[in-house]
Amino acid sequence: MTDQNKTSEKPWGGRFSEPTDAFVERFTASVGFDQRLYHHDITGSIAHATMLAAVGVLTNEEKTQIIEGLAAVKADIEAGRFQWSVSLEDVHMNIEARLTDRIGITGKKLHTGRSRNDQVATDIRLYLRDEIDVIADELARLQAGLLDLAEREAGTIMPGFTHLQTAQPVTFGHHLLAWYEMLVRDGERLQDCRKRVNIMPLGAAALAGTTYPIDRAMTARLLGFDRASENSLDSVSDRDFAIEFCSFAALLMTHLSRFSEELVLWTSAQFDFIDLPDRFCTGSSIMPQKKNPDVPELVRGKTGRVNGHLVSLLTLMKGQPLAYNKDNQEDKEPLFDTVDTVKGCLKAYADMVPAIRAKTENMRIAAKRGFSTATDLADYLVKKGVAFRDAHEIVGKAVAFGVAESRDLSDMTLAELTGFSDVIGEDVFDVLTLDGSVQARNHLGGTAPRQVRAAVARARNNLAG
Ligand code: ARG
Repeated sequence: MTDQNKTSEKPWGGRFSEPTDAFVERFTASVGFDQRLYHHDITGSIAHATMLAAVGVLTNEEKTQIIEGLAAVKADIEAGRFQWSVSLEDVHMNIEARLTDRIGITGKKLHTGRSRNDQVATDIRLYLRDEIDVIADELARLQAGLLDLAEREAGTIMPGFTHLQTAQPVTFGHHLLAWYEMLVRDGERLQDCRKRVNIMPLGAAALAGTTYPIDRAMTARLLGFDRASENSLDSVSDRDFAIEFCSFAALLMTHLSRFSEELVLWTSAQFDFIDLPDRFCTGSSIMPQKKNPDVPELVRGKTGRVNGHLVSLLTLMKGQPLAYNKDNQEDKEPLFDTVDTVKGCLKAYADMVPAIRAKTENMRIAAKRGFSTATDLADYLVKKGVAFRDAHEIVGKAVAFGVAESRDLSDMTLAELTGFSDVIGEDVFDVLTLDGSVQARNHLGGTAPRQVRAAVARARNNLAG
């Protein structure tokens, strides 16, 4: 080990004549939050050292010393033995300084041919790539749970709404598959974003590239990147890949938030369509009867901060001249919090969705309320030769009668119905029932139970592939 004092000297201290102001040191430091990148920082450094040795900038012995030293630093961090130092500013300089403490002068050679600017851009991409893969798995788990529930509830009838007013009967399975489709698009956006995350900036150095004979293709290969980036200035400066991820996240959260809103409504005494298991709810400290749907509420609430992070990053980027600026240090906290929030919300949902229990009788009663088969009666009249506008008028009158009498269309007698139109026959009751109504919508994308089951089968295939 070399002299401890060495580590407290700034690696960039050469041209400075006074120490950094104590507040400025804390103000400019990122180590408090970027230490979470330690694993990816070390992985990147090992690949960089391996490449430097392959092109002859380091000897094999130096490379081995560096790799072993980095492994020891990593072990220290993971064992909680690492003292992070604010005066060493960030994760990169902390690790490099500790490496030099351990292996001496060779540690100082690691930074040859790179800069913290391309190093940090590489670290974030490696970090985000890993987190994207975790998020993709969790999203798939939620999707699989939705498909199981949709299959179970393929024949369950509920009211479908527009304007939150009863519109037409739908199957609960069909409704759940609408949520599934939104998540499919979210998953596609995530994978598309991953393609642009998985490009390696390392080698851009500070901004202009480096004079050493580096082999960027080799480093990219070692780190599992699809390729090295094309332009050094762009590589160190843009954070569009993080913005894209946050944009994916904002849309996903917006979808989960809408889903949450429905779960909250449905668990209310007024709707009473579903039951959430107690383990996903909490009580009230004052009202003993309460069982609150906290998980959906909180997911709905957390959507605000994720949307906010997207706006933070867009705003962070918009005024920056090329190339790297310290502004970019501010990319991390919004990105990290977005990752954490999305992972938490997806886990809660993936655990909770399979445990949703439909109160099928309540759903059916609600579907019958509100004249949900009125459109079916109009369609019936059209099939019997009545023009649609006239059919609409006839059914409107029948509904007005039903409202006055507090009776659904299906509860009227044939004589009452023929009073509105003489083309109506006994077969009208086939379409006025809830089951007749949903079964009649038997086409791709329709609400019929058969279609729901077929859609689940197709979706399972896609999810597996
Ligand atoms: N902590 C910095 C960041 O997060 C690392 C890069 C610093 N580069 C520099 N030239 N000061 O962006």
